[in-house]
Amino acid sequence: MSRNLAKLNLRNIIFLLLGTLFVLLLYFILHNISYRKALYKTYTRVLYDHDNKTIITSKVSLKHLLAVSIDIAERGGVELKAVRKLVDVQKVRKGKSDPFYEGNVKSYCAMMYGFKKIHPEIKVISEKEDCSKINLDDDQLPRGENTEVKTMLESVDEKVLSEQIAVWVEPLDCFHEYKKNLLPCVATMVCVAVNGKPVIGVIHHPFQNLTVWGWVGHGITSQLKIGKTFFKEWTTEPEIVVSRTEARLGADFAARAFGGEETITLAGGEGFKLLQVLQGLVSAYIHLSFTKKWDICAGDALLQTVGGNVTTLKGKPISYAASDDVDNKGGLLATLFKHDFFLDKFKNV
Ligand SMILES: *[C@@H]1O[C@H](CO)[C@@H](O)[C@H](O)[C@H]1NC(C)=O
Ligand SMILES: *[C@@H]1O[C@H](CO)[C@@H](O)[C@H](O)[C@H]1NC(C)=O
Ligand SMILES: *[C@@H]1O[C@H](CO)[C@@H](O)[C@H](O)[C@H]1NC(C)=O
Repeated sequence: MSRNLAKLNLRNIIFLLLGTLFVLLLYFILHNISYRKALYKTYTRVLYDHDNKTIITSKVSLKHLLAVSIDIAERGGVELKAVRKLVDVQKVRKGKSDPFYEGNVKSYCAMMYGFKKIHPEIKVISEKEDCSKINLDDDQLPRGENTEVKTMLESVDEKVLSEQIAVWVEPLDCFHEYKKNLLPCVATMVCVAVNGKPVIGVIHHPFQNLTVWGWVGHGITSQLKIGKTFFKEWTTEPEIVVSRTEARLGADFAARAFGGEETITLAGGEGFKLLQVLQGLVSAYIHLSFTKKWDICAGDALLQTVGGNVTTLKGKPISYAASDDVDNKGGLLATLFKHDFFLDKFKNV
């Protein structure tokens, strides 16, 4: 009798196990299908690698990528704001680890993971951080549509092969200012380069609730007065912004070029300084030592959208292809007007 009962129980357990396995399998398959569907929506052509396993190339709409870049930049911003708030209400234990650095990592993980989730086939380049401690699985797919972009660029689009694209991500511009609570400068940045040329730039200021986006050849956000439409070519002595980290070096260099007729201002954050140029607040931004390309790509794209220029100090365009060095080693000159004038002055310095 008891032996029969045990047999019955065993059979029930086996049935139960098999049933559970089946349900899990079904869930996995369905989940995968809906995920892939969301992914394929934006593709017109999909190829596979030699094992026929991985998607290696697709044709991607740049308008869709612009919207995704805006969403990704804003996601990073949400993380930066949350960490700043935590610190402000003293909920963070002091001494354990730098909460601001954690803010940087959280922003990085949200941005990188978000992008990889929707476009695993596109190369994304940034500083490397460890995301293993952060659970991001529940994050939703980034939005592939943006209201302002949709309204302004209704009938515009361009499609390019994913292998021609490199995306550059900066999760926290103005780290020092973030720590010091000088928040207007703080930004996240996303840049889309096609064949090495910066094409889409997004600079998001979470603490100003401001997202500046531009797409070379097509348009720029109307949220801010930027570019040649709003500012006249300057005629006075040049005002030059240099990085706080190389204040002396930059000022000396400018003095040798302009003989003391220049005005120098100092600022942190590459994105911030490039936006100053874009807003006509300074005549130029110069940087002598190397810069990371994820720090300058978005501002480069934005300046090019409004007819400004970003080059090395010798006037060479900066290349942002996935295969390129992540360091820009030739220095940097960014202007809205009179780029040649500056290049000429720097020739013999
Ligand atoms: C991969 O798939 C393509 C298209 O279906 C096929 O032509 C090719 O032979 C496949 N390659 C391999 C290694 O199975
Ligand atoms: C942020 O800006 C957007 C667009 O300008 C606006 O719709 C939104 O209400 C603003 N949010 C806050 C918290 O100010
Ligand atoms: C600056 O940008 C404009 C517009 O993109 C371009 O025509 C010009 O050649 C560039 N000048 C330099 C010095 O790179």
